[in-house]
Amino acid sequence: MAHKIILDTDPGIDDAMAIFFAFQSKDIEVLGLTTVFGNVPADMAAKNALILCDLAEQHHVPVTKGVARPWVGPESEYAHFVHGDDGFGNTYPEASKRALDPRSSAQFIVDMARAHPGEITLVAVGPLGNLALALRLEPELPKLIKGVSIMGGAAFVPGNVTPVAEANIWNDAHAADIVFSADWDVHMFGLDVTYDISFPPTFVDVLEEKNPVLGGFVQKAAQFYMDFYSQGREDRVCFFHDAFPIAHLIDPSLFGFTEGHMRVATDPLNKGQTALAPEGSTASPDWLNARKVKVATQVDHPKLTELFIDTYAR
Ligand code: BDR
Ligand code: CA
Repeated sequence: MAHKIILDTDPGIDDAMAIFFAFQSKDIEVLGLTTVFGNVPADMAAKNALILCDLAEQHHVPVTKGVARPWVGPESEYAHFVHGDDGFGNTYPEASKRALDPRSSAQFIVDMARAHPGEITLVAVGPLGNLALALRLEPELPKLIKGVSIMGGAAFVPGNVTPVAEANIWNDAHAADIVFSADWDVHMFGLDVTYDISFPPTFVDVLEEKNPVLGGFVQKAAQFYMDFYSQGREDRVCFFHDAFPIAHLIDPSLFGFTEGHMRVATDPLNKGQTALAPEGSTASPDWLNARKVKVATQVDHPKLTELFIDTYAR
């Protein structure tokens, strides 16, 4: 049976690549796209998700608008320097005429969890404010959800916003702390695996060849994104962070994990740090009382690449 997922997202170029990957997979059933501020402001994230549904002809998939700012502190600065002014590498696709689902992203998550108890995996590939708010709206949410798969964090490698913090977690560290502390089964796909190996420019050329509409969109949008990632390097490279948790649902054998107690730092200097104490590594109650999560630390990159390409080719 296909995995029922809600994809919580801030599109975003690698978000677009991940959303199409999920739509294309026969093993994934997307119940909705819940959007959140992050790479772009909340309004743009919601409108961009509608555009992606139009391109993929997924007109029945509800799209909701989510939280527009972090749990604590001022409005964020957005990542237009990575994703372009439009979030799609300045390709400016046509706006959607479809309306958003009127519910907030958090309310949608709660409603769907109540309607499908124990069946839904929340796949979160942006800052975690919607999930934190859903936990506030329905404290029993962890009992209603099958699992949570997060693209975010950096357990044993440096961050990409600060030396210790990855962007999704840094953008809303207090919300992330709430989400990582809740009583549910969390798999984290952070920079430990998503930055492990880069994709060459030919990768998106192949996606376009296999799927001219969806792969073609990713190929065009990714040119700006590759400019950003290739700065200061000899080679031209790309990273598709957000597709990793979806790949894991489709083929768990692609990843290896380290299990341990996770803390999310919220102090100004370390904000967004996701530090892991592997099982048996500490006697400190501050760590042993923290919830256990599974952090992806190994990935079979050739097989992952093959899965992306095969799925786009369907
Ligand atoms: C994460 O931050 C965003 O820029 C990407 O969409 C991805 O979710 C990578 O750090
Ligand atoms: Ca994202």
